[in-house]
Amino acid sequence: MLLMKDVIQDGHPTLRQRAKDVVLPLSQEDFFTLREMMELVENSQDDELVEQYDLRPSVGLAAPQINISKKMFVMKAMDETFEKEYQYAIVNPKIVSMSEELTYLPGGEGCLSEPEDVSGLVKRAKRIKAKVHLVNLETGETKETLLKLSGYPGIVFQHEYDHLLGIMFVDKISEQLPDIEPIHFRVEE
Ligand code: NI
Repeated sequence: MLLMKDVIQDGHPTLRQRAKDVVLPLSQEDFFTLREMMELVENSQDDELVEQYDLRPSVGLAAPQINISKKMFVMKAMDETFEKEYQYAIVNPKIVSMSEELTYLPGGEGCLSEPEDVSGLVKRAKRIKAKVHLVNLETGETKETLLKLSGYPGIVFQHEYDHLLGIMFVDKISEQLPDIEPIHFRVEE
């Protein structure tokens, strides 16, 4: 299984490369890589495993972060109302439209490839549409889909997508965003 030591850190050249298209149909190797990536994200959301393996919590991981320069990433994130989970293994994504309306994560973004104490506000499109190949992690089948995401899952997608372009969130940090509405998480009562 993947551990934090397998996640390369900012300064490593792979994180600054444009990742290459994944060859479809998906190879066994790429399928296993995606399964391992999702396993790490899932484990990182389990308190006991976080403790046991010294993991940092995460909602997404892109292949370049484990030193594989291919256009694939995984994400597992709830929407702001904690009602729906967006869990995807994605290959060869292409954002085809972005809303002019912007938003940001009010607590700032972070990244497993940056030190844990590094965070910052990043402007993101409020809504995106992306052509992707979704991978079924049970069977390895892929399905071309137009994904429409908004709010928090949309931000997670944009962060991971940037990794495939060699862009880190620290490149995009704004000190303040007074004119933009942040996303709002519903506070549990
Ligand atoms: Ni990241």
